[in-house]
Amino acid sequence: MSLLPLAFEWPPATTVEVVFDEARIRNRVDELAAAISTDYVGHDLVMIGILKGAYVFTCDLSRALSIPAVVDFASISRYRRAPDQREVRITHNVEADLQGKDVLLVEDIIDTGLTLHYLVQEFGRRGPQSMALCSLLDRPDLRLADTQLDYTGFEVSDEFLVGYGLDFREQYRNLPYIGRLAL
Ligand code: IMP
Ligand code: MG
Repeated sequence: MSLLPLAFEWPPATTVEVVFDEARIRNRVDELAAAISTDYVGHDLVMIGILKGAYVFTCDLSRALSIPAVVDFASISRYRRAPDQREVRITHNVEADLQGKDVLLVEDIIDTGLTLHYLVQEFGRRGPQSMALCSLLDRPDLRLADTQLDYTGFEVSDEFLVGYGLDFREQYRNLPYIGRLAL
Protein backbone atom coordinates (compact mmCIF):
# COMPACT_ATOMS: atom_id res chain seq x y z
CA MET A 1 0.00 0.00 0.00
CA SER A 2 1.38 3.41 -0.85
CA LEU A 3 0.57 6.38 1.30
CA LEU A 4 0.05 9.87 0.08
CA PRO A 5 2.57 12.35 1.44
CA LEU A 6 1.30 14.18 4.50
CA ALA A 7 -0.11 17.58 3.75
CA PHE A 8 0.82 18.74 7.24
CA GLU A 9 3.73 18.27 9.58
CA TRP A 10 3.49 15.32 11.96
CA PRO A 11 4.19 15.55 14.78
CA PRO A 12 3.54 19.27 14.58
CA ALA A 13 6.68 20.21 16.51
CA THR A 14 6.64 23.82 15.44
CA THR A 15 3.13 24.45 16.73
CA VAL A 16 3.06 22.38 19.92
CA GLU A 17 5.44 23.12 22.78
CA VAL A 18 5.91 20.11 25.01
CA VAL A 19 4.65 20.64 28.57
CA PHE A 20 4.65 17.03 29.85
CA ASP A 21 6.75 14.61 27.83
CA GLU A 22 6.10 10.89 27.50
CA ALA A 23 8.47 9.83 30.27
CA ARG A 24 7.01 12.32 32.76
CA ILE A 25 3.46 11.22 31.96
CA ARG A 26 4.38 7.54 32.24
CA ASN A 27 6.04 8.06 35.64
CA ARG A 28 3.04 9.92 37.01
CA VAL A 29 0.57 7.39 35.58
CA ASP A 30 2.56 4.61 37.27
CA GLU A 31 2.47 6.51 40.59
CA LEU A 32 -1.29 7.03 40.35
CA ALA A 33 -1.82 3.39 39.41
CA ALA A 34 0.26 2.27 42.39
CA ALA A 35 -1.80 4.43 44.76
CA ILE A 36 -5.09 3.21 43.29
CA SER A 37 -3.93 -0.41 43.40
CA THR A 38 -3.11 -0.03 47.10
CA ASP A 39 -6.37 1.73 47.94
CA TYR A 40 -8.59 -0.74 46.06
CA VAL A 41 -7.10 -4.09 47.07
CA GLY A 42 -10.03 -6.43 47.71
CA HIS A 43 -12.58 -4.01 46.23
CA ASP A 44 -14.82 -4.33 43.17
CA LEU A 45 -13.19 -1.60 41.13
CA VAL A 46 -14.99 -0.24 38.05
CA MET A 47 -13.04 2.42 36.16
CA ILE A 48 -15.14 4.71 33.99
CA GLY A 49 -13.20 6.70 31.43
CA ILE A 50 -14.94 9.80 30.09
CA LEU A 51 -14.74 9.94 26.30
CA LYS A 52 -13.20 11.13 24.29
CA GLY A 53 -10.51 13.03 26.17
CA ALA A 54 -9.71 10.38 28.78
CA TYR A 55 -9.33 7.44 26.39
CA VAL A 56 -5.52 7.40 26.41
CA PHE A 57 -5.16 8.04 30.14
CA THR A 58 -7.77 5.39 31.01
CA CYS A 59 -6.00 2.77 28.90
CA ASP A 60 -2.55 3.51 30.31
CA LEU A 61 -3.79 3.82 33.90
CA SER A 62 -5.72 0.55 33.74
CA ARG A 63 -2.72 -1.31 32.29
CA ALA A 64 -0.50 -0.03 35.10
CA LEU A 65 -2.78 -1.35 37.87
CA SER A 66 -1.69 -4.41 39.81
CA ILE A 67 -5.26 -5.32 40.83
CA PRO A 68 -8.27 -6.52 38.81
CA ALA A 69 -10.60 -3.87 37.43
CA VAL A 70 -13.58 -3.57 35.13
CA VAL A 71 -12.93 -0.86 32.55
CA ASP A 72 -15.82 0.96 30.93
CA PHE A 73 -16.46 4.25 29.17
CA ALA A 74 -19.12 6.91 29.07
CA SER A 75 -19.47 9.65 26.55
CA ILE A 76 -20.86 13.08 27.25
CA SER A 77 -21.75 16.11 25.26
CA ARG A 78 -22.61 19.64 26.19
CA TYR A 79 -25.94 21.08 25.24
CA ARG A 80 -25.05 23.38 22.38
CA ARG A 81 -28.21 25.38 22.97
CA ALA A 82 -27.30 26.26 26.52
CA PRO A 83 -25.92 29.78 26.36
CA ASP A 84 -22.92 29.03 28.52
CA GLN A 85 -22.62 25.35 27.47
CA ARG A 86 -22.65 24.33 31.11
CA GLU A 87 -25.29 21.69 30.69
CA VAL A 88 -24.05 18.22 29.87
CA ARG A 89 -25.75 14.96 29.02
CA ILE A 90 -24.59 11.38 28.62
CA THR A 91 -24.59 10.25 24.99
CA HIS A 92 -23.14 6.79 25.67
CA ASN A 93 -23.67 5.26 29.06
CA VAL A 94 -21.62 2.61 30.85
CA GLU A 95 -22.64 -1.00 30.32
CA ALA A 96 -21.13 -2.24 33.58
CA ASP A 97 -23.42 -2.83 36.56
CA LEU A 98 -22.47 -0.23 39.16
CA GLN A 99 -24.64 -1.59 41.98
CA GLY A 100 -22.42 -2.12 45.02
CA LYS A 101 -19.27 -1.42 43.00
CA ASP A 102 -16.38 0.90 43.81
CA VAL A 103 -16.45 3.35 40.94
CA LEU A 104 -13.48 5.43 39.85
CA LEU A 105 -14.29 8.17 37.33
CA VAL A 106 -11.32 8.91 35.09
CA GLU A 107 -11.02 12.28 33.34
CA ASP A 108 -8.39 13.96 31.22
CA ILE A 109 -8.68 17.46 32.67
CA ILE A 110 -10.93 19.17 35.19
CA ASP A 111 -11.67 22.75 34.40
CA THR A 112 -14.87 24.19 35.85
CA GLY A 113 -15.64 20.76 37.33
CA LEU A 114 -19.21 20.98 36.05
CA THR A 115 -18.91 17.89 33.83
CA LEU A 116 -17.60 15.77 36.65
CA HIS A 117 -20.14 17.17 39.10
CA TYR A 118 -22.93 16.09 36.75
CA LEU A 119 -21.45 12.63 36.21
CA VAL A 120 -21.05 12.03 39.94
CA GLN A 121 -24.77 12.68 40.37
CA GLU A 122 -25.71 10.50 37.39
CA PHE A 123 -23.61 7.48 38.32
CA GLY A 124 -24.46 7.95 42.00
CA ARG A 125 -28.05 7.00 41.15
CA ARG A 126 -26.89 3.58 39.98
CA GLY A 127 -26.08 2.42 43.50
CA PRO A 128 -22.29 2.24 43.66
CA GLN A 129 -20.76 1.45 47.04
CA SER A 130 -18.27 4.28 46.58
CA MET A 131 -17.24 6.80 43.99
CA ALA A 132 -13.84 8.45 43.58
CA LEU A 133 -12.46 10.88 41.02
CA CYS A 134 -9.19 10.74 39.14
CA SER A 135 -7.96 13.27 36.59
CA LEU A 136 -4.62 13.44 34.86
CA LEU A 137 -4.75 17.24 34.77
CA ASP A 138 -6.35 19.70 37.16
CA ARG A 139 -6.89 23.39 36.56
CA PRO A 140 -8.15 24.50 39.98
CA ASP A 141 -8.25 28.22 39.15
CA LEU A 142 -11.32 27.82 36.94
CA ARG A 143 -13.37 25.67 39.32
CA LEU A 144 -17.09 26.50 39.53
CA ALA A 145 -18.50 23.25 40.94
CA ASP A 146 -17.43 21.88 44.30
CA THR A 147 -15.54 18.91 42.90
CA GLN A 148 -12.80 17.28 44.97
CA LEU A 149 -10.35 15.02 43.16
CA ASP A 150 -9.05 11.91 44.90
CA TYR A 151 -6.19 11.34 42.44
CA THR A 152 -4.55 14.12 40.42
CA GLY A 153 -1.73 13.80 37.92
CA PHE A 154 -0.58 17.39 37.44
CA GLU A 155 -1.91 20.84 38.24
CA VAL A 156 -1.92 23.14 35.24
CA SER A 157 -2.52 26.82 34.65
CA ASP A 158 -5.02 28.46 32.37
CA GLU A 159 -3.46 27.57 29.03
CA PHE A 160 -4.99 25.38 26.37
CA LEU A 161 -3.37 21.95 26.17
CA VAL A 162 -3.45 19.20 23.56
CA GLY A 163 -2.20 15.65 23.18
CA TYR A 164 -2.49 12.40 25.14
CA GLY A 165 -6.24 12.44 24.48
CA LEU A 166 -6.79 16.20 24.64
CA ASP A 167 -7.95 17.77 21.42
CA PHE A 168 -8.21 21.05 19.62
CA ARG A 169 -11.10 20.67 17.14
CA GLU A 170 -10.65 16.88 17.28
CA GLN A 171 -6.99 17.05 16.27
CA TYR A 172 -3.85 16.27 18.33
CA ARG A 173 -5.45 13.57 20.54
CA ASN A 174 -2.94 11.00 19.32
CA LEU A 175 0.16 12.97 20.29
CA PRO A 176 2.04 10.87 22.87
CA TYR A 177 2.89 13.95 24.96
CA ILE A 178 0.94 16.96 26.31
CA GLY A 179 1.74 20.35 24.92
CA ARG A 180 0.52 23.88 24.53
CA LEU A 181 -0.68 25.07 21.19
CA ALA A 182 1.41 27.93 19.93
CA LEU A 183 -0.99 29.18 17.30
P1 IMP B 1 -15.26 21.12 32.83
O1 IMP B 1 -14.43 20.66 33.97
O2 IMP B 1 -16.70 20.69 32.92
O3 IMP B 1 -15.14 22.60 32.59
O4 IMP B 1 -14.78 20.45 31.47
C1 IMP B 1 -13.55 19.85 31.32
C2 IMP B 1 -13.50 19.30 29.91
O5 IMP B 1 -13.21 20.36 28.99
C3 IMP B 1 -12.39 18.29 29.75
O6 IMP B 1 -12.87 16.97 29.94
C4 IMP B 1 -11.94 18.50 28.31
O7 IMP B 1 -12.70 17.70 27.44
C5 IMP B 1 -12.24 19.96 28.03
N1 IMP B 1 -11.03 20.78 28.21
C6 IMP B 1 -10.78 21.63 29.21
N2 IMP B 1 -9.58 22.22 29.08
C7 IMP B 1 -9.02 21.70 27.97
C8 IMP B 1 -7.74 21.91 27.30
O8 IMP B 1 -6.85 22.66 27.73
N3 IMP B 1 -7.54 21.20 26.17
C9 IMP B 1 -8.48 20.33 25.67
N4 IMP B 1 -9.67 20.09 26.27
C10 IMP B 1 -9.95 20.78 27.40
MG1 MG C 1 -13.17 15.42 28.61
